[in-house]
Amino acid sequence: MEIIPLKEWYVLLDVLEKERGVAIILGATDTGKSTLAKFLIFNLCKRGLKVALVDADIGQSFLGPPTTIGFSVFRSDPTWEIVLLPPEIFFVGSTTPEGCFPIHLKGTKRMADKAHSSGADIIIIDTTGFILGDAGRELKKRKIDLLSPNYLIALQKSFEIEPLLELYQKNFHDKIIRLPLSDQVKPRSMEERRIYRANQFDDYFKHATLQELIIEHIQIEGEVLDPNGDILPIDWALKINGLLIGLKDDHDETLALGVVRNYIREKGMLRISTPLRDIQEVKTIQLSSQKVIPLCEDQNFN
Ligand SMILES: Nc1ncnc2c1ncn2[C@@H]1O[C@H](COP(=O)(O)OP(=O)(O)O)[C@@H](O)[C@H]1O
Ligand SMILES: [Mg+2]
Repeated sequence: MEIIPLKEWYVLLDVLEKERGVAIILGATDTGKSTLAKFLIFNLCKRGLKVALVDADIGQSFLGPPTTIGFSVFRSDPTWEIVLLPPEIFFVGSTTPEGCFPIHLKGTKRMADKAHSSGADIIIIDTTGFILGDAGRELKKRKIDLLSPNYLIALQKSFEIEPLLELYQKNFHDKIIRLPLSDQVKPRSMEERRIYRANQFDDYFKHATLQELIIEHIQIEGEVLDPNGDILPIDWALKINGLLIGLKDDHDETLALGVVRNYIREKGMLRISTPLRDIQEVKTIQLSSQKVIPLCEDQNFN
């Protein structure tokens, strides 16, 4: 995909190169946030800087699979092959922050802390388009307050995110950078978004193998909700073929995602499909209410 930058993007590049720090990109859905993030990473790396990306968009993520917050560090003129190496991920378990603000914020903070520890010169935080209305504004406000960014980069069609920006106008002054939208932005339909997510999951699980986990000593976190919003008993939940789960180590780090294939209750054995090789590292399973059926699964099972 060829990125056609606005002239304002080069001014932003110069500012970030000089000032450095944390920049959070804000805007509604389809405003060009991720494209701007890619442009900034590529060009700041080209200028010799070490750039971290926290991809907090759990729906249309480009770093890591959907339902996760991704983090990676780039330096020196990366090719997109390098960029797309497996990032570190934090499993949120949903493709929208609605109904899961606390874990979404926890994951974003966790990855931002990793970005700080990596010694990156600049940290770019890409976000979901969930920003309009009271709930969207509240989520973004909490995110900004938690991450203390140096720059708020605002992409808006007209004035739709001004109610959020005005909360920071006093303290941020010239640190709020308002950018017009590119006429290159191509809005995507719900169906295109769904297909994008399915492809991202397929890509993530393409080298998955079937693994067996004895769950006796495994901690189980989270819950599975049925379509009515009621919590399913664990034994029922684990029987859902295609249930998406997070596999975590004993430091609460997401090692990988898994998809439940079947559960043999008498043996306490859960069969899962996962790209994780060392299943022994898994100490906690984090449940979700997402179902994922990777297309390529049949080729991986024997
Ligand atoms: N400056 C640009 N040059 C070329 N294509 C763009 C540009 N900005 C956005 N697009 C296209 O528009 C679509 C939506 O942009 P995206 O950055 O994913 O938006 P957002 O992250 O805000 O949802 C993408 O398919 C992207 O390729
Ligand atoms: Mg995006």
